[in-house]
Amino acid sequence: MSAPVPEDTRPPAVAFQNVTKIYGAGTPREYVAIEGITFTIPDLVDRGEISSFLGPSGCGKSTVLRLVAGLEPQHPPTSGTVAVLGREIVGPGADRGMVFQDYTSFDNRTVLDNVVFGLECRGVPRREREAAGREWIARVGLDAVRDARKYPHELSGGMRQRVAIARTLILQPRVILMDEPFGALDPATRLDMQDLLVRLWREVESTVLFVTHSVEEAVYLGDRVYLMATTPGRIAEEIHLPHASAPAREAQSEPWFNEQVGRIHARIEEIEAAAKPLPGHASRSPSVTRA
Ligand SMILES: Nc1ncnc2c1ncn2[C@@H]1O[C@H](COP(=O)(O)OP(=O)(O)O)[C@@H](O)[C@H]1O
Ligand SMILES: [Mg+2]
Repeated sequence: MSAPVPEDTRPPAVAFQNVTKIYGAGTPREYVAIEGITFTIPDLVDRGEISSFLGPSGCGKSTVLRLVAGLEPQHPPTSGTVAVLGREIVGPGADRGMVFQDYTSFDNRTVLDNVVFGLECRGVPRREREAAGREWIARVGLDAVRDARKYPHELSGGMRQRVAIARTLILQPRVILMDEPFGALDPATRLDMQDLLVRLWREVESTVLFVTHSVEEAVYLGDRVYLMATTPGRIAEEIHLPHASAPAREAQSEPWFNEQVGRIHARIEEIEAAAKPLPGHASRSPSVTRA
């Protein structure tokens, strides 16, 4: 058996080095979606970390996440490098799993068949994959018998996202990418889902990149928050936070939580004010300090 590699010598879970993405480069529709994004998320032994990417619509959050996933047309970046676990991304891979905001289950498959889809693709025998599927259906808080037989149209939004989470985590990805997965849910369900995510994350010990435009959600979930700004999309600030130990409902009434939320709202206002063009000037004033 080899000795564990010390944390500071392990390749980072995710590393962006000066990444720019220009859509339609060289055409009249050319658009700089993100510019010069650099960040490093360490690969913490037996723990992982949740990083929140917080920013207004259009600031490039999905672009960042899909670059990590290796999905086109975001991948490849126009310039710069994106690496996961020390290897530059060349396309999608089993080390990464993604959960989207819109419900992406197969309508003609039952919950169980949706959850085991990835195992089926990997050639895992039926009995084995269905046993694992039922286990995961229970772990995300659904009924392993009754719900397993249902079709997506028979489920609420919250239940569908539980299926999406089970379908992703059953494959045990080292890096989990979540693009506003709870954005379409009602507030109460959203808090339940945040609690579920934290509980599962403690079990699977993966690195999670979580995109949201809710400050509360970013603060509750994030060990770190990347505050993004727009035009062009960039990281304005990296904030490190203590991990909330209480369930979402309780944590959100704690003083430290509200203090952080208030501080981030204030920073967002500063960033937005700095980005507004001065009267009579077409371009924005000198931008905020970059992380
Ligand atoms: N495939 C694409 N082609 C052209 N422009 C795109 C494409 N995808 C995104 N964009 C533009 O890039 C910017 C960032 O998009 P996106 O990453 O989806 O932002 P966010 O997820 O933060 O809302 C937006 O202005 C968007 O319109
Ligand atoms: Mg998006």
